[in-house]
Amino acid sequence: MNQNLPYRTLLEVDNVENRIEDLIQQMTLTEKIGQMSQFSGRNGIPHDLRESIQQGKVGSILNEVNTDVLNEIQRIAVEESRLGIPLIVGRDVIHGFQTMFPIPLGQAASWNPEIIEEGARISATEAASVGINWTFAPMVDISRDPRWGRIAECLGEDPYLASILGSAMVKGFQGDDLSHPNSIAACAKHFAGYGYSEAGRDYAYVNISENELRNIVLPPFKACADAGVATFMSAFCDINGIPATGNELLMKQILRKEWDYKGFVVSDWDSVIELIKHGFAENSKEAAFEAIQAGIDMEMASRSYQENSEKLLEEGRINIEQINTCVRNILRIKFELGLFENTYTNTAYFPEKGNASYLQSAKQAAIESCVLLKNDYNTLPLKKDKVQNLAIIGPMADDGYEQMGTWTFDGKEEWCKTPLQSIYEMAGNDINIRYARGLETTRSKNRDGFEEALSIARESDTVVMFMGEEAILSGEAHCRADIDLPGFQNELLEEISKLGKSTILVVMAGRPLTLDKTQHYVNSLMYAWHPGTMGGPAIADLLFGEVAPSGKLPVSFPKMVGQIPIYYNHRNSGRPVINGSFMHIDNIPKRPTQTSLGNTSFHFDAGFDPLYPFGFGLSYTSFYYHSIELSTESISLGDFIEISAELTNTGSVEAVEVAQLYIRDLVGSVTRPVRELKGFQRVHLYPGETKTIIFRLHTDDLSFFDRKMKYVTEPGQFDVWIGGDSRANLKTSFYII
Ligand code: BGC
Repeated sequence: MNQNLPYRTLLEVDNVENRIEDLIQQMTLTEKIGQMSQFSGRNGIPHDLRESIQQGKVGSILNEVNTDVLNEIQRIAVEESRLGIPLIVGRDVIHGFQTMFPIPLGQAASWNPEIIEEGARISATEAASVGINWTFAPMVDISRDPRWGRIAECLGEDPYLASILGSAMVKGFQGDDLSHPNSIAACAKHFAGYGYSEAGRDYAYVNISENELRNIVLPPFKACADAGVATFMSAFCDINGIPATGNELLMKQILRKEWDYKGFVVSDWDSVIELIKHGFAENSKEAAFEAIQAGIDMEMASRSYQENSEKLLEEGRINIEQINTCVRNILRIKFELGLFENTYTNTAYFPEKGNASYLQSAKQAAIESCVLLKNDYNTLPLKKDKVQNLAIIGPMADDGYEQMGTWTFDGKEEWCKTPLQSIYEMAGNDINIRYARGLETTRSKNRDGFEEALSIARESDTVVMFMGEEAILSGEAHCRADIDLPGFQNELLEEISKLGKSTILVVMAGRPLTLDKTQHYVNSLMYAWHPGTMGGPAIADLLFGEVAPSGKLPVSFPKMVGQIPIYYNHRNSGRPVINGSFMHIDNIPKRPTQTSLGNTSFHFDAGFDPLYPFGFGLSYTSFYYHSIELSTESISLGDFIEISAELTNTGSVEAVEVAQLYIRDLVGSVTRPVRELKGFQRVHLYPGETKTIIFRLHTDDLSFFDRKMKYVTEPGQFDVWIGGDSRANLKTSFYII
């Protein structure tokens, strides 16, 4: 390597900010705009890409994962470009690199920041081992709409849960030290509001009040910023008439001014030039102007910065300080990543990808992600000495690829262990197992496989069905209006249910499905999401009771699409819901009467209750919450209060329960949600054991944005509940005076 390159002399300057300034002084405009440009990888290094890197026109590359190519790309940047600035290499490492963890929404069902951090650490290590130094995760968009395909990628409907879990992911990817070879830069996306797209249609318009934006949508982003996330990504969507990629309120006012954020902001793929299609910019030059003006430091994929910045400067529309600021933000992260010192990747340094401990961690994450939604007559767990003939049926029982879920660029299908294989391994010697696919895919509308499925079910005492949605039915740009089990899955379930066997359904899907009809066909229902590489062994352990399920829903499950959006932390209307407010249209009298429906409360033919509420999940044991107590009944601003309750395992197996704390601020200067999650703890209990669970709240934990968008805690009464889901009824109240 040429030792006389300018970047090497910079190593003598200790302070990162000085090193940045040194570089800025030396950079031409082309080189500055180069840093602000991210090119897509192209399977090798075509001549024009090589030339662009040599000329300092590329700051980053994404979607190249071949280590030799990446090392060569870095060598060209470092040795053949004038200033020798290394590239930052990005990739969507969303829920695993080659070892796949459950989809993020599944991981969120673990309510376990430690396991999420560990998964992100492993993913970072695997990705770093090929030369990736930046992932576009975590995705912390709050979503209340399961029609939206990207709900699979998010951490659920609740700002508190998504804040805790999103920052755990950031810590996992970045480690304690960004310059450690196993660390990669994280990216909080999509800033902001993307999860509120109209009717769950991807990329669609987002209409959201500033109150909702600040109180619900932004907190997880703020938490990631506080956790030191290196980068942010702007959203594709138009929010309140101003696309996020050109949105000064978001990027300048909130991110930079209010949060004092020091990392850099990348656009989403082509989202700068998409400002033209939004009707927000007339052409590529205006698009570049709007994005730079808003503070988008790096443009992903499109080239409007390269094509137009010089002209925009000449015309005085933008000034060089704006450009310098973007470049500084980007270089700062490159320095923090240690890219100038450790540019190349030596794969031999890293642990083997997909090693036993990584797979064990993926299995544990999958176990903790599964949510038991129904378990009549304690059908689960299966007992090896009781079940003699077991039928395994369904298109998701033995399909490694599909269980990995969306955003699986690099996941190794051949490493996947399916439920069918794992159940054979676990119980094949003790139980007679028969398997039939029943349907070719989850979408099949063909009864050809029904007879085989029914015949093995007839010969069995217990039937386990594996159904759901293939990976491609969720994720970016894959939205659905009908979120029942697709194809003829319900038809097959109905036929099987008529046999009167003990029937268990395991659903693997990228979103909450509407299961109102489905649940009646089965005794037990377990929601496994897309559980990743080790989904099979995790599910087998759960089915046979090696471990009790502990997952809790991070999002409400609607009964039917017409209930959407349905979420636990809604606000009351002036005529609030009473007892679910169900309206039976079959029995409704011709004219309103005193005893039927008045107008003073809300009635809805779907009722207001979801099928399964936020925070819900059963276990193989039962839990009893009792004796809620407060450390004091009233506190002053700036004080803490402790809320405690006793939790007893009243069943017969050891298990983990996620104990949850909810509050309600009864009167506010702006209306407040009917409940808000403010704490949770995973509590391990042996049968008969009781533990005291204590939550500590500071009055700052009760703050919100008021009418003037000031962040305040207002005195008054607060109701508080502790329990196992968002319908918890063990309640008390305290006051802030
Ligand atoms: C997605 C981003 C992703 C990017 C790069 C876009 O289509 O919206 O979430 O990080 O592509 O692959």
